[in-house]
Amino acid sequence: MAYSEKVMDHFANPRNVGELPDANGIGEVGNSRCGDIMKMYIKVENNIIVDVSFKTFGCGAAIATSSMATELIKGKSIDDALKLTNKAVMEALDGLPPVKVHCSVLAEQAIKAALSDYYRRQGIDPEPIVGKIEEHDEHGEDFCH
Ligand code: FES
Repeated sequence: MAYSEKVMDHFANPRNVGELPDANGIGEVGNSRCGDIMKMYIKVENNIIVDVSFKTFGCGAAIATSSMATELIKGKSIDDALKLTNKAVMEALDGLPPVKVHCSVLAEQAIKAALSDYYRRQGIDPEPIVGKIEEHDEHGEDFCH
């Protein structure tokens, strides 16, 4: 199994790690088959994600995809963040081995979970905007353990 240089870089030097004390949206997702958990913190001001961080208890690809996902949504509008797919995260990392695709799905879901939390805190039902989130996915297909 070969990892791209970008994956190795984001795994070894993850960007935006840790908690965000003044986050106004926090989302946690997990994959119950591999047991990995990803927590995403966002700070939204005027519809812009002005800051973002993450904590991932998971495999190297989960750490690399969370790191890249935070870089891709930082400074972007909520609309742009909602459009970020796991495919785009993988492309930005120059690809992932097939058994690691589900790790990137976790990154996409973690962002959506954080945005959902943000909307909930504003008293807005997130589901029509963000869609349904599987916070603890039992139905993934590709597993590495
Ligand atoms: Fe589960 Fe990577 S997120 S093995």
